[in-house]
Amino acid sequence: MKIGIIGAGNIATGLGKFWAKHGHELFFSYSRDAEKLKKAANSVDPSARFGTPAEATAFADVIVLAVPYNAVPDALSAAGVLNGKLLFSCVNPLKPDYSGLFVGTNTSGAEEIAKLAPGAKVVEGLPAFAEVLHSDVRQIAGQQVTVFVSGDDSEAKQIVTRLLVECELEVIDAGPLWTARYVEPSMMLLVNLAYSQGFGGRVGFKFLKEKT
Ligand SMILES: NC(=O)c1ccc[n+]([C@@H]2O[C@H](COP(=O)([O-])OP(=O)(O)OC[C@H]3O[C@@H](n4cnc5c(N)ncnc54)[C@H](OP(=O)(O)O)[C@@H]3O)[C@@H](O)[C@H]2O)c1
Repeated sequence: MKIGIIGAGNIATGLGKFWAKHGHELFFSYSRDAEKLKKAANSVDPSARFGTPAEATAFADVIVLAVPYNAVPDALSAAGVLNGKLLFSCVNPLKPDYSGLFVGTNTSGAEEIAKLAPGAKVVEGLPAFAEVLHSDVRQIAGQQVTVFVSGDDSEAKQIVTRLLVECELEVIDAGPLWTARYVEPSMMLLVNLAYSQGFGGRVGFKFLKEKT
């Protein structure tokens, strides 16, 4: 697939390296530093493209949003019209000091993003922590990390699921986009456990279930 990534930081590069390995074509965008953007793209895949969010959008079958929540309005406006496009959001609406979430439980970052991208097929799939994506081993204590996808378009959700599975994660369909209201706070809990409670960044959730 052609994957246009808005953002070129820890999550963008952490996911991108798996997608490059699986033969997807990548286009990175939206760093404030042109040299850093080029370096990030090259570090993932020497053949990865880079440029503006609008170029990434024009290039892509799937647009991945991997920027901090407070940069989302600017990033989406730079991306242009997303009507009919698949927008895969990795964005948790965390406050920059990790003290909490900008929005929660009566709406979600994902739903607010959908309002800013009319007509886009928005799927939220908050990935495992960047520390897990960038380390040599994806499993933690021998177990695959579980992540959740939320979205209203089942075909779009299947595509995002496949992309996350390629990143060696276990993916559970949480349901419609509104379920992101509960996934996002759970990831806030994980951030707190990792960085305030001393567990460190190689942590993740495991969803336990009877075999189906
Ligand atoms: N890190 C994780 O473990 C993790 C896990 C799950 C979800 N997420 C979510 O994924 C998203 C990206 O996280 P990340 O860890 O990849 O962040 P990051 O490493 O800080 O990367 C952010 C990217 O956005 C770009 N950017 C452009 N304008 C910006 C602005 N005004 N302020 C900040 N950044 C700007 C940055 O470019 P520059 O080169 O200019 O900095 C960079 O390429 C966030 O919404 C986060 O909640 C992260």
